[in-house]
Amino acid sequence: MDKLVISGGNELKGTIKVSGAKNAILPLMAASLLTEGWHQFENVPQLRDIRTFCTLLDYMGAEVDCSETLRINTSDVNRLEAPYDLVKTMRASVLVLGPLVARFKKARVSLPGGCAIGARPINLHIKGLEALGVDIQLRHGYVEAEAKKLVGNHIYLDLVTVTGTENLMMAATLAEGTTVLENVAKEPEVVDLANYLNSLGAKIDGAGSHIITIEGVKELNTPKPYRVIPDRIEAGTLLVAAGITGGEVTITNCIPSHLESIIHKLQETGMTFDIGDNWVTARSADQILSTDVKTLPFPGFPTDMQAQFMALMCLGNGTSVITEQIFENRFMHVSELRRLGADISIDGRTAVVKGVKELLGAKVMATDLRASASLVLAGLAAKGITEVSRVYHLDRGYDRLEKKLSALGAKIERTKE
Ligand code: EPU
Repeated sequence: MDKLVISGGNELKGTIKVSGAKNAILPLMAASLLTEGWHQFENVPQLRDIRTFCTLLDYMGAEVDCSETLRINTSDVNRLEAPYDLVKTMRASVLVLGPLVARFKKARVSLPGGCAIGARPINLHIKGLEALGVDIQLRHGYVEAEAKKLVGNHIYLDLVTVTGTENLMMAATLAEGTTVLENVAKEPEVVDLANYLNSLGAKIDGAGSHIITIEGVKELNTPKPYRVIPDRIEAGTLLVAAGITGGEVTITNCIPSHLESIIHKLQETGMTFDIGDNWVTARSADQILSTDVKTLPFPGFPTDMQAQFMALMCLGNGTSVITEQIFENRFMHVSELRRLGADISIDGRTAVVKGVKELLGAKVMATDLRASASLVLAGLAAKGITEVSRVYHLDRGYDRLEKKLSALGAKIERTKE
């Protein structure tokens, strides 16, 4: 197993390119199941989750060429199943449910269990598919879905769910008639998926707003190459890296409008920004100002940035109240940040972070993807050596983060445990 060894205290300076978005490419890969032919995606990051999804598509009978330009041919898909071993390592596997049942009228997908950040049920995916005419049985730990045909419907989602919205949008693409999805996720990754589906001939309107209307089509067209949007969470993580190390970093290949809530929050901490059409320069403040934050669905502050923001607040000049409103158990990084000297208490979904003068390097253990990123950020600012173990969590969602940070002047290296 790999670990990262960080010698903290270096100001990060320079320019770095943001990779393609993990949470955009995964649904695009699932969407490739909707129609045969070679699907080609560009700007694809090198991530463990993407390799896992490639394995899943390969298991189903697709031809997959898993590199920076990702090519997938789903013409010969014949195994309509996502097995437990793959779903348990990556919950996003559940995204194959909608497209499989839409194209083949049948799917068998392992029920994802709880995970390190919450229970994460998929009841809304199931309820929505049932409303489209899919018969769903839960048997032997699997969702077994079958339909004679899918018929459009008006579906209200009780909670805003990103992959739920994506699954239903993909299913409704090939349904008979019109589907209206209400109270949907407005995340840029949902919009990216709608754009790709529309490029295949789907008729999706309203992605990015709270109502999406899908006029079903009989079949989709031959795929065209598609460029994945940049990763707003990787971008946000690099901006925090500038702030926490007292540095100045320019990120390129990003979409600044996707970063608004993050940049606004970082401005409250005293950081300053120059913003261009596809780049952002972030400058640290002399003193990190403590401020409160609540996580919300897009365009609110993302839960996927909560742990990284908390790392910054550990060195704030006062007290910060951080409220996690999306997942019920997303504070696993707190006990590890405390090992570095942070002063954090938790009450339910709220963490109270009292800023300390300095963090001191220690051995810490990553527990999930974004928790790992927060420990790396804290390690960059801590005095002395921080060792972050179980880096495989980080590799699920960051494309060689240590290389990017090194290029900005961080002393960070990957070694074996
Ligand atoms: N929920 C339900 N029932 C459902 C679906 C969701 O109760 O059927 C609840 C969840 O338990 C949670 C809330 O609704 O409390 C929102 O969950 P959502 O479904 O939006 O999460 P997700 O689609 O499983 C995606 C991202 C996550 C990100 C969340 C929230 C992908 C592949 N994953 O998950 O990304 O945190 O949206 O923005 O898009 C990450 O990248 O680190 C990550 C965890």
